[in-house]
Amino acid sequence: MHINKKLTIEELQSKKGMTPIAILTAYTYPISKELEAAGIPLILVGDTLGMVEMGYNSTQEVTMNDMVYHISAVRRGAPNTHIIGDLPYLSDSSPALALENSQRLLDAGADSIKLEGPKYDVVEFLLKNGVYVVGHLGLTPQTAQNFKQVGKDEDEANQIKLQADALVKAGVFLLVLEHIPSDLASELTHNVSVPTIGIGAGQEVDGQVLVINDVIGVGEKWPPFSKQYAHVGKTVREAAAIFKHEVETKVFDPYQ
Ligand code: KIV
Repeated sequence: MHINKKLTIEELQSKKGMTPIAILTAYTYPISKELEAAGIPLILVGDTLGMVEMGYNSTQEVTMNDMVYHISAVRRGAPNTHIIGDLPYLSDSSPALALENSQRLLDAGADSIKLEGPKYDVVEFLLKNGVYVVGHLGLTPQTAQNFKQVGKDEDEANQIKLQADALVKAGVFLLVLEHIPSDLASELTHNVSVPTIGIGAGQEVDGQVLVINDVIGVGEKWPPFSKQYAHVGKTVREAAAIFKHEVETKVFDPYQ
């Protein structure tokens, strides 16, 4: 049993190049409780919520109310773990709106927030008002046209490098790099001063983040860059089928 101590921003930053950081998403009380018990140091309540838990085709449908609901459940399950709350689509479309919405996520239990894309003015404004921000570059699902790898050609790679530098200057304390070539992720990791967290970005990063439903095998399709450590969906289906059979054949006995 791990006794977690909530990591501070400084402790997280000092892990760069030293201790790789393992991050998982969570959306519910029971799962976050297990992640904290496993010693996972950082939980992201991501807006992937919309796709993996709510059945939408994109993350754009996720609302602030959805995020507040799920962050508060995750906080109850993981009281001693640093929680990053995702700002959903358009909730950060101006610095003032982003601050108002970040405050709601912090009040629900988040310790820091994550936003997608090169929104330098928003990051600066949040930091000036005491909100710690995680950046997210590469594939940014809120606005992406498809889920293909980005940064493969030189222009795109150069743009991501410029954006990474500018986001770090604006004040992000971690930088998520999603679905970019591993050599680009490696170069960024060597060049920026904050820990890089990869998802589909190879091994040369300061940490990795995966979506919990992909990790435990719940859902219909899992991205090629995620790894399944269990197949919980299959276990649920099998348990339900056995229960149904027992009830229908009148052999069900809860005390057995
Ligand atoms: O919303 C999310 O879960 C994310 C991760 C995929 C990084 O942004």
